[in-house]
Amino acid sequence: MLDIDPQTRHAIRNSFGSVLADRVELSRRFYEGLFASHPELRAMFPEDLTELRRKFVDMIVVVIDSAIGPATRLLEEAGARHAGYGVLPEHYPVAREALLTALRESHPAGDPELERAWAALLDAVIAAMLRGAQSSLPRAPVDRTLGRMD
Ligand code: HEM
Repeated sequence: MLDIDPQTRHAIRNSFGSVLADRVELSRRFYEGLFASHPELRAMFPEDLTELRRKFVDMIVVVIDSAIGPATRLLEEAGARHAGYGVLPEHYPVAREALLTALRESHPAGDPELERAWAALLDAVIAAMLRGAQSSLPRAPVDRTLGRMD
């Protein structure tokens, strides 16, 4: 985890969707701006920047994950996709009960502490998915390939 304060974490969580949606432009602007302001740096880099832009975007995803946690990012993205499937907030408690019941049935010995832990974990999962559903994250699977970058 990167060492950042909760306010920064919150701001990154609120903006990662638009940053990722804009990643191709961002990577282009970054290198263009860098070389425009400091042309002497251009010679350090390969002529064709396609691969480097790809790595730059990969690194942004890693940094976002390190700031908010990879599970948070993936669950918020999944929540947005679920909104696209037509899933409503009131469906989540139904799925929650179905999963807890399935767990109980496959572990009939019944450990109340275990069940409490899974219920709490599931609540955190659902909270992240609902945040994603209410965000501006894409409602369809995101194509992580960058397509043409030049
Ligand atoms: C409890 C939290 C839930 C988790 C962790 C979860 C997880 C997943 C995952 C991993 C997929 C595969 C596709 C994707 O990632 O977009 C999926 C698909 C799906 N989920 Fe969920 N889900 C949850 C809750 C729900 C609820 C409450 C509903 C509505 C009743 C629902 C309905 C669906 C549907 C309809 C698909 C299939 C979409 C398609 O392939 O067209 N899910 N879910």
